[in-house]
Amino acid sequence: ADPDLAARAAAAKAALGDRVFVLGHHYQRDEVIAFADVTGDSFKLAQQAAARPQAEAIVFCGVHFMAESADILTGPHQRVVLPDLAAGCSMADMATAEQVEQAFDDLLDAGAAAGTVPVSYMNSSAAIKAFTGRHDGTICTSSNAKRALDWAFGERGGERVLFLPDQHLGRNTAIGELGMTEDDCVVYDPRRPGGGLAPRQLREAKMILWRGHCSVHGRFTRASVDEVRARVPGVTVLVHPECQREVVLGADLVGSTEYIISVVDAAPPGSAFAIGTELNLVRRLATRHPDKTIVFLDRTVCFCSTMNRIDMPHLVWALESLARGEIVNQITVDPDVATYARKALDQMLALP
Ligand code: 13P
Ligand code: SF4
Repeated sequence: ADPDLAARAAAAKAALGDRVFVLGHHYQRDEVIAFADVTGDSFKLAQQAAARPQAEAIVFCGVHFMAESADILTGPHQRVVLPDLAAGCSMADMATAEQVEQAFDDLLDAGAAAGTVPVSYMNSSAAIKAFTGRHDGTICTSSNAKRALDWAFGERGGERVLFLPDQHLGRNTAIGELGMTEDDCVVYDPRRPGGGLAPRQLREAKMILWRGHCSVHGRFTRASVDEVRARVPGVTVLVHPECQREVVLGADLVGSTEYIISVVDAAPPGSAFAIGTELNLVRRLATRHPDKTIVFLDRTVCFCSTMNRIDMPHLVWALESLARGEIVNQITVDPDVATYARKALDQMLALP
C-alpha cells in the first residue's frame, strides 16, 4: 500500500468526521478495508447502510448493486458514493429489466404467473429489485436465502419461485437446504425464446432458476476440491453458495462471507481450511490466522476484477472531494424504481 495515499485518505476522513460513513464489503482490498467504518457481507451492509443518519455521505467500497441498495435504504438527505463507477457485477448484469419482464410474460402465457413468487438475490440491479417488489416477492442474500424461500413457499403461499439471477445460489438452497430435487428445478435461459422451456415445465417447476452465475465462484470445480483434499491432509473445505452444485456437494461447509469468516475465526490453532470464495478475503484470513493453514481452493481462480476496482487512488479521490464539499460518483436510483425495490428489500429485512 502507498503510505502517501493512506495518509491522504486518513486526513480526508478525519476532516469529514461523522459526515462520512464508509462501508466495505469483505471482498475489498486490504488497504481499502483499513478505512471502512463497518465491514460485512451483503446482508450486514444493507442493514448497516442506514445506521448513521448523521452522515451526509456514504462511501460504498463494494460494487454498484450494493451502492444502489444503500441509496434506496438511506434517508433523502444522504448521498451514496461509489468510488469507481466501473465497479459493477457481471452476475447482476446477467438479468436485465427487459429480460425479466419477458420471463414474466412467458409465465403469464404458460398460466404459471399467479403462483410464482420472485426471489431475487441482492446481486441484481435496482430495476430487478423493483420487479420483485411489484410482484410481492423478496430480496435475499447468501446468508438468508433459506429463510427467503421458506417465506415464499410458506407465509407468502407461492407454488413456485422465480429465482434471480444466480442459478447456483438458488439450486444450492432449494436442494441443499429445503430438500428439493433436481427435478423440482428448471433453468430459464433469457437468451432463448420462452427461456428454452416448454409451458408445462414452467407450470410444473417449483424453482425456476435464472441462468446467471458469478464469474469468480463459477470457476471453482469439483476437481479443485479433490485436488486440495489430496494436497492438504485433514483440510476442511469451506465454500460460498455461489459455487456450482458439485463443488458444494464436495465441500464440508457452505455459507456467506460473514459465515466463512466466523468459522475460520472460531477454529482452534492448527486447523486447515481450503476456501472457495474471493481471493482478497481468503488472503486476509490467512494473514489474520498465521497459526492455521488457510489455502485458496483453486490457485487458477483470480480476484473479482470489479470489486478490485475500488483502490486507494479512487478512495482518496472520493474522500478528498467530499472534504472539499464536492460529491463525485453519486449513485441515485429513480424514485419510482426505488419505491418498489425498497418494498422488496424491506421484505428481506423483515424475514423471520
Ligand atoms: P456475501 O457477502 O453476501 O456472501 O456475497 C458475496 C458476493 O458475491 C458479493 O458480491
Ligand atoms: Fe459479482 Fe461475483 Fe464479483 Fe460478487 S464476486 S461482485 S457476485 S462477480
